[in-house]
Amino acid sequence: MNDPRSSLIVALDVPDRSAALKAVKNLTGHVGFFKIGLELFTREGPGLVEEIRDLGEKIFLDLKLHDIPNTVKGAVRSVCALGVQMLTVHASGGPQMLAAACQEAQSSATPPLILAVTALTSLSEADVRDLGVAGTTEQWVERLAGMAQQSGIRGIVASAKELAMLRAKFGDQLQFVIPGIRPAGAALQDQSRAVTPAEAILAGANYIVVGRPILQAHDPAAAADAIVKEIMQARP
Ligand code: C5P
Repeated sequence: MNDPRSSLIVALDVPDRSAALKAVKNLTGHVGFFKIGLELFTREGPGLVEEIRDLGEKIFLDLKLHDIPNTVKGAVRSVCALGVQMLTVHASGGPQMLAAACQEAQSSATPPLILAVTALTSLSEADVRDLGVAGTTEQWVERLAGMAQQSGIRGIVASAKELAMLRAKFGDQLQFVIPGIRPAGAALQDQSRAVTPAEAILAGANYIVVGRPILQAHDPAAAADAIVKEIMQARP
């Protein structure tokens, strides 16, 4: 964690292998992790994960698994064989599913950090009520994070909005990965409540996820370097 680059995760939100490899080539040595999400994984499959891994890069596989414990356990076993460093599951899969994911990861020679996604930030308060959840979204996020922690989870994907509450409640027992980041002056695009890299780090983020502000920059490596500098300056 000492190298500030290790806190920067770039979201490889690109359509295909050639765009992904081009971005990796541009950014190698400038960032800590490459996040491969559902779009790229569904199109290119595990082969691309192995290709990027074999370039010596660290990978966050953002598959947001959510199924019965036995099925998630099998999927985690398959992911472990790919040698990635991080994998997401949905906290709302429940304690048995989360425990199965953690146990399976721990039995691997190279266990990925299993990250639980609490409430999707695309859900409004009204959506959360419609799902039958009692209380506010923030209370739901706190409950899900507590349940995840009790089930063996050590990392959470959270919005910056909930980060201070989660850090106060869970201290260093959980690591926090924060998307929705925009360097000061960058276009917000569809992120309505974005925070700057420095704000996220100051509020307790261990890792930040940045996509378009890096990928769509005229010079992606320079954009990443500027964010890394901001991370370094914001660290306690
Ligand atoms: O381009 P941008 O920086 O907005 O990309 C952010 C990445 O983080 C995307 O891959 C997006 O799916 C992911 N993400 C997010 N907000 C969340 C959870 C994940 O933007 N609440």
